[in-house]
Amino acid sequence: MDIRIYCKGGTLIISISNHKGGVGKTTTALNLAASLAILKKSVLLIDLDPQASLTISTGLNPDSFQENVYTSLVNGKPLSLVTQATSIDKVSIIPSNIDLSAFEVELQTTLSREFKLKHAIQKLPHYDFIIIDCPPALGNLTINALTASDMVLVPVQAEYLALRALQKHNDLVDLVKKNTNPKIHCKYLVTMFSKGTLHANEVLTEAHNLYKNIFKTVIPRTIKFPDAVTAGKALIQLMPAASGAEAYKAVAKELI
Ligand SMILES: Nc1ncnc2c1ncn2[C@@H]1O[C@H](COP(=O)(O)OP(=O)(O)OP(=O)(O)O)[C@@H](O)[C@H]1O
Ligand SMILES: [Mg+2]
Repeated sequence: MDIRIYCKGGTLIISISNHKGGVGKTTTALNLAASLAILKKSVLLIDLDPQASLTISTGLNPDSFQENVYTSLVNGKPLSLVTQATSIDKVSIIPSNIDLSAFEVELQTTLSREFKLKHAIQKLPHYDFIIIDCPPALGNLTINALTASDMVLVPVQAEYLALRALQKHNDLVDLVKKNTNPKIHCKYLVTMFSKGTLHANEVLTEAHNLYKNIFKTVIPRTIKFPDAVTAGKALIQLMPAASGAEAYKAVAKELI
């Protein structure tokens, strides 16, 4: 199914999720948002990871905000009141901090716990895209994100074991589809691709054998991404012509 059908003048809500750590979720959230902004789309980033890597990657200090995604989800404060500007024109962020780790536990005793984020998002003003950066886990936070989303973008590191580890995440998406969000659409993005290596090419072929719904664009492995994190910027802000920046721009174009 073509995800563009969801986009008809509305908001496309995308969760970036994979329970495996360090596969490029946060990098994808930030660089995809910056690329969409260059294509004149308004984007809200939601940092749903207690590690707050996305908040930090935009150059913000997670501990400098009295209100964040956690206080909003727990106290019912509108998300619009905790939204912060970023250094990227047309991109805003709802920051996270370590307090969010309590959410998993506190929700156990709450009714409709899977729908907390979805209900909060419904009260937000219009954005063309909302991008939710999930933690590397299959718990309540990720279930809330998937329940609220039109699409889950799953970054897959171009390594054999990373491809094999996807089954548990696929099972969670199926569970969400059955129980809280039948319309969710899943699409895979191959990341950290080492061009010219036999292994990466074999993994890419295997990924296409296993899944039909894969972005045509592949994200190259390049040290420029960690460098950009250190600067608190998206790569496209620092080096718009870099291969990694161009790749995320191509992913954004596939989405529009
Ligand atoms: N294409 C890439 N090439 C090289 N390094 C990359 C690439 N994408 C991400 N990285 C680096 O790999 C590390 C992990 O990336 P990132 O934080 O995006 O992963 P993650 O899936 O969000 O991790 P976590 O599971 O901890 O949230 C970071 O240092 C990041 O800068
Ligand atoms: Mg992350």
